[in-house]
Amino acid sequence: MQDNDTAQGAPCAVISELEPVPVAGVVPVAQTAAAPPAHGEDFTAKLAAMQQLNARLIFMRDEQTIFEEVMTAAQSVLGYDICAVFLHDPAARALRLRAWRGYDDRVRGFSIPLEREIGLCRLAFTEDRPVYSPDVMADPNYCMADPELCSELIIPIRSRRGPIGVFDFGSRALYAFADEDIRLCCTLVDHMAISLENLRLFDELASTRDAIILGMARLAESRDGAMGGHLDRICAYSRILTEALSRQGTHARFVDEEYVETITRSAALHDIGKVGIPDEVLLKPGHLTPGEYEIMKTHAGIGGATLEEMVNRHGSFFMLKMGADIAWAHHERWDGSGYPRGLAAEAIPLSARIVAVCDVYDALTSQRIYKAAIPHDRARDLILAGAGQHFDPTVARVFTEQAGEFQRVRSRLRD
Ligand code: C2E
Ligand code: SIN
Ligand code: SIN
Ligand code: FE
Repeated sequence: MQDNDTAQGAPCAVISELEPVPVAGVVPVAQTAAAPPAHGEDFTAKLAAMQQLNARLIFMRDEQTIFEEVMTAAQSVLGYDICAVFLHDPAARALRLRAWRGYDDRVRGFSIPLEREIGLCRLAFTEDRPVYSPDVMADPNYCMADPELCSELIIPIRSRRGPIGVFDFGSRALYAFADEDIRLCCTLVDHMAISLENLRLFDELASTRDAIILGMARLAESRDGAMGGHLDRICAYSRILTEALSRQGTHARFVDEEYVETITRSAALHDIGKVGIPDEVLLKPGHLTPGEYEIMKTHAGIGGATLEEMVNRHGSFFMLKMGADIAWAHHERWDGSGYPRGLAAEAIPLSARIVAVCDVYDALTSQRIYKAAIPHDRARDLILAGAGQHFDPTVARVFTEQAGEFQRVRSRLRD
């Protein structure tokens, strides 16, 4: 790996950039791979280990874990003690180091500018082909890296749209890569590329899906013009309360990081059923008659049933399932006196018990078409007074501990 000077783009080799020299030491793999393979037991064992890795890669949900797994395989299965993953950063026009093994830790944050440098990684990326240098010091295209590095194999990581980076295998031995090793390395990198592509599609799909669902919630909300920042605040409050609950012994086992992320989004769905409430009721400036209130109360079931229907038709995923729980049960009360089902205590989904507190806090501290806002301190006291009757006592207690945070969100996200 280059030292800091080269990292900053200092000239790193004697070769003129204007005059690319045909590279003796750099052999395209397509040419080296022509000889018929003589597969030994060793090769078969390596293939089997890579097959197992492949099965694990499918389930990995973040890039860094994929990099680490593949580098572990490069070291332990293929036996290359030095390796690195560079991904293309189009904004910086550079290959950015994302993970490494066997290089000094000072390489952290290192990147290879695509415009200025020669170098094997740049070559493999820009020409979109594997580059093998069996003796880097004799290779005019080599750009000084680790002084112990003797041979290097660099393979582009390809997505459907072209190369997205390179995988760099290095060895302290000369001529360390036999033809069949090169093929194994290519296979390993291709598997990694497929996993990264899957991950990208998965993330893209998930965020599109979230955007559509949250858009639906905003649309429902937009009829009630006075409620500007309501959804954003409910989501922010829900995160605060849920994170605080996850630090409590009693709730830690229900509430993990995924739960926090999910409630932060699905809390926005709590009142989605208000789309089904006629204007005369929803937008009535004064108090509701008992009959109007009965109509109003149907919003919980309308929203819950709509989201459940989506789960049934389109398959369950956590955000929708939790959204359905929240829409159904955010007006249930701990003592069983709420609506629409009169559920009590732990029969009310935890997510709904959390959102109930957030929703009432926000309603109390906001001006509505039918009522004035009350100050933070009074709202906090009212919620505390409702602990054990309206609200889950644990959630209400954690709310009072976090009340300052709620107040900060309140003043940051105004209507
Ligand atoms: P919202 O305005 O978002 O209020 C949500 C919940 O906050 C209410 O659920 C209630 O539990 C609490 N809350 C709101 N304002 C007050 C208050 O001044 N004092 C107390 N103690 N709690 C309050 P709830 O009552 O089931 O109402 C559900 C929804 O029905 C409300 O959502 C609002 O959209 C509508 N609504 C309720 N009462 C009236 C009303 O008198 N007039 C109109 N136009 N709509 C109302
Ligand atoms: C590069 O500059 O391409 C990285 C170092 C090398 O492998 O040549
Ligand atoms: C649910 O349907 O899972 C929410 C709880 C309820 O029935 O209100
Ligand atoms: Fe509601």
